[in-house]
This record gives sequence, structure tokens and C-alpha cells, in this order.
Amino acid sequence: MGPRIVALGTVMVVGLGLTACGGGGAGSDVIILRVALNQTETHPSYVALANYSDRLEEQTDGRMRLDIFPNETLGAQAEVLQLLSDNIIDLGIISGSQMENLSADFLVLNMPGVFDSVEHQMPVVHDPAIVGDLYTSLEGSNDITVMGGFTQGSRNIYVKNEISSLADLDGVKIRVQESELNLAMIRALGGSPTPMAFGEVYTALQSGVLDGAENNEVSFFTQKHFEVAPYYTNSNHLVGLDYMVASTEMLEGLDPADRQLLEDEWINTYQDHTQLWDAATQEAIDGAKAGGAQWIEIDQAEVQEALAPLADEFLTTPTQRELYDKIRAAAPGQEG
Ligand code: GCU
Repeated sequence: MGPRIVALGTVMVVGLGLTACGGGGAGSDVIILRVALNQTETHPSYVALANYSDRLEEQTDGRMRLDIFPNETLGAQAEVLQLLSDNIIDLGIISGSQMENLSADFLVLNMPGVFDSVEHQMPVVHDPAIVGDLYTSLEGSNDITVMGGFTQGSRNIYVKNEISSLADLDGVKIRVQESELNLAMIRALGGSPTPMAFGEVYTALQSGVLDGAENNEVSFFTQKHFEVAPYYTNSNHLVGLDYMVASTEMLEGLDPADRQLLEDEWINTYQDHTQLWDAATQEAIDGAKAGGAQWIEIDQAEVQEALAPLADEFLTTPTQRELYDKIRAAAPGQEG
């Protein structure tokens, strides 16, 4: 299916109230790109995508825009990846953990400790000298291209029953994203990992199938997990990453100037998202606290020590090591 390309002058164009031609730039077709997202409409990723659509629309006199499907309405991320590969939808926001299941090279950017901060992460994941080859590496096998990423900020463990140290995680069932590295991470911290799709976590926490999960403050709040697992720690085990993944066939089918516009406006989109992130995190903390959540401190040095062996265990190829070293060399205070 791919992008919905609508010839100008059709009922759809009239119905949308778009003007029939003019300074809209390159092609003459109306292009509506379907985007899959697993977050709510209040999440910064939704807001940044909606702003992206507005800018595309403005710059093409209404000829190009996004149709955003939030709340996993097009399926969980693993299914969305398949829809992108099959060119049934055009774009999707996909967590790094899912990409790791398609290529072990993506695992490098999911390693605990690979990014010091969002300030380190965002320039790196938009630097073609570091990630250019990685982002096109799935075009041949899966027909998908990575355009860049949104930060997930710091991910922290949260639980139904209060804990005070890693030792208390013994036997505690923690939901993880579906990947080997995520399973190993929670095992290394002493918990019992349970892989599960994002949209199922609330009910699983509520029913007691899970004792906890791990995520950033924004998802903890927008997914309402704080209602059922209110003890949020500072484990800070990972600076997570979501990718903007595109159907390669869709990208290649665009008029070159339209593709350029989509890529240029993506840069403004991730920067917009990064700007929104801090305020959204603070709002999430305030909202969750007002809803009864409690922030608890555990020993972060102990977390780092427990996770340190994972790099040697998982980064086994020269390509992975090289990518890891390039990312570490770009950390603030390391350049030069
Ligand atoms: C974050 C991330 C999502 C991911 C989710 C998860 O919310 O932004 O892309 O799916 O974590 O834990 O599954």
C-alpha cells in the first residue's frame, strides 16, 4: 500500500480542503504518510510528530502530511516493523530493543552505559559518520530505513512493593522489552525478567502477573503504571532510544525534493522532541506523585557494577566494538 498518494483534483483533496496546486514544491500528488506510535496523544513523541505534520503541510501548501496512529492502534512495535517492511504503513516509532532483534548491530545503542545523557545521545544518533551505515543496513533485508531517533531518557525500575536495594529484587518479576539484552539486564540486577509488549503492561501489573517494570518517568505516568506499581527507583540503568523507521520503498517512491523535505523536517522534529522532553518528565513526576507514586533511592554505583559485564558478553563483533568506541569517544568531555 505505502503512502496514500492522491492525485490532485480528486474528491479526497477537495474533501480535505486542500488547494489544488501552487507553491507546494516538488510532486503534484497529495501525500499522506501513516505513522504508527505506541504512546498516548499527551506524550512528547505524539506532540512532536503532530508538529512535524503541521510543518510538512505548511511547506507544501497542504500537499504532504502525516496521519498519526497513537496508542498501538496499528499493533505493538514488533507488528509495526512487519507492516513497515511490507510497505503497508510508511513510518513508525520503534524502540531500540525491537531493532536489536533484526540486527545485533543495533544492540550497541541499547547497551547500559553507552550514552551518558540525552545530550550525548541525540547528536550521536543523528551523526551520519557514526550511524550512517547502521541506519541503511536493513534496507536490503527488511526494506526499512532508519531516519533518526527520539530519546527515551533515563529508564528506571518501578515496583508494586517497596524495595530499598538491588537485593530486594530477588524473585521480583519485572517486565522487559522483548530482547535478549533486556532479559540479561534485569537478571544482572537480580530480578526475574518477563518480556511483554508495552500495551499489555498495565493490566499485567494490575493483576499481579508482574511485580514491576522499567521505563522513563513519562511512560510511567502516561501509561498510568504509577497507579499499580507506585515505587519508582533511580536505577537509571539505561538512556533509551526510539527510532524513526521508514519504509524504504516509500522513501524511494517519493519525489527527491519531497524526500529531502521529509528528512530536513525530521531534524527539526527530533530537536523539538528533545526540547519537550525535560518539561514532560517534570510534569510526569509531578502528576505521578499527585497520584500517590513515591520516588525511592537505591545505590546507583551498585547498578552500574552489576551491569558492567554485559558489554563484553554482548558486544562480540568488530563492527559492534567499533561502533561502541565511536559513540563513547563522542561523549561530552571525551572528544578531541
Ligand atoms: C518507552 C519507549 C517505547 C517503548 C516502551 C517500552 O515508552 O518510548 O518505544 O515501546 O518504552 O518499554 O516498550
